[in-house]
Amino acid sequence: MNEIKFYSGEQIPLELHKVRVVQKIQMVPIERRLEALQEGMFNTYRLTTKDVFIDMLTDSGTNALSDKQLAAMMQADDAYAGSQSFFRLKQAVEDVLGKKYYLPVHQGRAAENIISYAYVKKGNLIPMNYRFSTLLAHITQHGGKIIELLYDEAYVIDSTHPFKGNINIEKLEEVIQIHGAENVPYIRMEASTNLIGGQPFSIQNLRDVRAIADKYNIRLVLDASLLGENAYLVIQREEEFKESTLPEVIQTMTGLADIVYFSARKLSSSRGGGICTNNTDIYKELSPLIPLFEGFLTYGGISVREMESMAVGLYETIDETMISQSLSFIAYLVNALDANGVPMVKPAGVLGAHLNAMEICKHIPQKEYPAASLAAALYLVSGIRGMERGTMSSQRDEDGNEPCADMELVRLAVPRRVFTLSQIKYVVDRVTWLYENRELIDGLRFVEEPPMFRSFMGGLEPVSDWPQKLLNKFREDFGDSL
Ligand code: F0G
Repeated sequence: MNEIKFYSGEQIPLELHKVRVVQKIQMVPIERRLEALQEGMFNTYRLTTKDVFIDMLTDSGTNALSDKQLAAMMQADDAYAGSQSFFRLKQAVEDVLGKKYYLPVHQGRAAENIISYAYVKKGNLIPMNYRFSTLLAHITQHGGKIIELLYDEAYVIDSTHPFKGNINIEKLEEVIQIHGAENVPYIRMEASTNLIGGQPFSIQNLRDVRAIADKYNIRLVLDASLLGENAYLVIQREEEFKESTLPEVIQTMTGLADIVYFSARKLSSSRGGGICTNNTDIYKELSPLIPLFEGFLTYGGISVREMESMAVGLYETIDETMISQSLSFIAYLVNALDANGVPMVKPAGVLGAHLNAMEICKHIPQKEYPAASLAAALYLVSGIRGMERGTMSSQRDEDGNEPCADMELVRLAVPRRVFTLSQIKYVVDRVTWLYENRELIDGLRFVEEPPMFRSFMGGLEPVSDWPQKLLNKFREDFGDSL
């Protein structure tokens, strides 16, 4: 895409949309933010949006809706079976993702549940580029195990490798040979690999996976929740595709997979999900599970209005000006923070900027959750809500041991077309201040630790009185600013 250049030479992303519906947000003073943190037990998931100024927790279900999506919702056809809203959505899935069978589910993890229920048996191994947390829980529920096979460079946080989401092909083959192809129900590839900082894989890598899948007769499953952005980055970074269009790249990717599933909360900026395939056997194996877990085959737990919005959202996924908006804001944010010396995941990826808490808070041991501590500290000094992506988001193993995560990240999600550039500049300002005062941040410990998904609802407390010290320093430097 041609970018618009400024006469001044300044390089800033220019919004290619206008704002016609707005939502007011407010900033509460830092003293209230400290109380809110205490009430929410230092877990950013437990804050209420009344206390949040810039909500960067996630892009899931929080992307801006377009005028066309809102308009489409008005023509929803309410019917338990055979709704026209479903058929419009099914057509959009076929047009955009190139798959003729579409099974609706209420959100992404429901697709993970159904695929795991159908294919994962005790003792199975599922190789993948990297896990997503809900997926790991579903696979382990069914007695399966996962193995993550990224190349080493993916773990080098500031390496500028363009495709850190690539799966290690040599290791993939080795794992299948050792474990036996009959124990590997599928290989999973996740577009724009979320938990390593929203990093894409290349089409060449996906082709290599396809060749292995064919050689050993194993299914290939693609998590397409962040497919549009991965495809956009393929056009930017993979020589062979630099002249290709977004629809071509998307269908090249989905064409290599037997099963494509997605969270529509991300892919099409609406609330729903889906599983799609061109394989009649797979369709027959999975379709009875939709009424069992989700709802009738023509709604799958999604409201008809959301189905209409999803159909339009899917077509908008192939609009470069839409799909590149959050990417250009993320790149701006990452580059500005990088220029200020703040350790970040690089290159700038998808869905958000990722702070490297392992480096920023290297004085905090992993068992005291440096990423969760940094996320709490950032909220305190700014009202910006990010998400911990580290040891606190990991689950304990069968023996109750707590594995330390490979990376300790704080994700600052940039949902599509939601924030303005001055809000992003505010984020740069406060993160930079916090980085310069990082020694004041200390660790957290659990006081309430749920057995599963502890990062969602777990309660923590600070190991020292560091939040008060940080507040005092803020007042010293910012006077009576909010
Ligand atoms: N797959 C990926 C790659 C995801 O990022 C998510 C959700 C899911 C599956 C599950 O989908 O939430 O609709 O059930 N990611 C959200 C996030 C929660 O904040 O990154 P879901």
